[in-house]
Amino acid sequence: MGRLEGKTALVTGAARGTGAAIARLFAEEGARVMLSDVRDESGRAIVAEIGDAATYRHLDVRREDEWSAAVEALLADFGKLDILVNNAALLIIKSMLDTTAEDLLRLVEVNQLGPYLGIRAVTKPMRDAGGGSIVNVCSTDGVKGMNGVSAYASTKWALRGITKAAAMELARDGIRVNAVCPEAGNFEMSAPFLPEGVEPRAAAEANLERLLRPPPGYRMEDHVLDVARTVLFLASDECPTATAADFIVDGGMTAGYIQRGIPGGD
Ligand SMILES: NC(=O)c1ccc[n+]([C@@H]2O[C@H](COP(=O)([O-])OP(=O)(O)OC[C@H]3O[C@@H](n4cnc5c(N)ncnc54)[C@H](O)[C@@H]3O)[C@@H](O)[C@H]2O)c1
Repeated sequence: MGRLEGKTALVTGAARGTGAAIARLFAEEGARVMLSDVRDESGRAIVAEIGDAATYRHLDVRREDEWSAAVEALLADFGKLDILVNNAALLIIKSMLDTTAEDLLRLVEVNQLGPYLGIRAVTKPMRDAGGGSIVNVCSTDGVKGMNGVSAYASTKWALRGITKAAAMELARDGIRVNAVCPEAGNFEMSAPFLPEGVEPRAAAEANLERLLRPPPGYRMEDHVLDVARTVLFLASDECPTATAADFIVDGGMTAGYIQRGIPGGD
């Protein structure tokens, strides 16, 4: 029996990358899943691959009316809503001096306002159903600092804050709220910001190799799957006391560094 047997879920930004991996895994584990995105064609293609357990709905996470309509449609199709994964996000890589107020606000709208509206939209149906699980896909850029991502990092730090505050407010309704913080893994997101001539996949693989401490035989795809599996665990009923927490999936990168040449570092 699947770990999400009988559950229903809404996943945002599910037309590709991490969101698509989460939706596929949820369906494999027995859930009925509504995938949503603004890339409707690729979203529908993923749904066709998954089969009967999945449906697709256009949902721009910045739009409160689209959230209401999506939740209403999900309830009409599935009868209840158990899980929300706030996964949709945008990335801009620029120095702080080059980042305009418009750039910052664009990311705030998708990465911060979007999940905020999502939590508001699902609270009543989850409350009515006696509980639920909300997983916010954050980033290691929400637990540390890095050059080039000041706008993105500010939205991901904010999302961790929203996670904790929402978890406190919704605990009495049996709704858990957690954050999953991945390291770089899906090359499509950062591809537009690579210098000309740099092949996105090779650059992402080199980056992962440099950043993570992967076991031998590790493949880039494994990281996205690790993230999806962590989201699955938090979405399931296997961890009823896990709430208001950050689950960092980064090969140990944000915990510290390995000092070569002294004991334990070889
Ligand atoms: N790619 C990485 O290396 C990486 C690293 C750490 C964290 N993350 C986080 O993982 C999550 C998934 O990212 P990904 O790597 O799959 O990126 P991705 O760019 O492949 O997927 C993000 C999806 O969000 C959708 N989206 C963008 N704006 C939207 C909007 N207004 N409404 C609805 N959907 C919208 C996009 O169309 C896209 O399909 C994001 O929250 C991201 O911040 C990614």
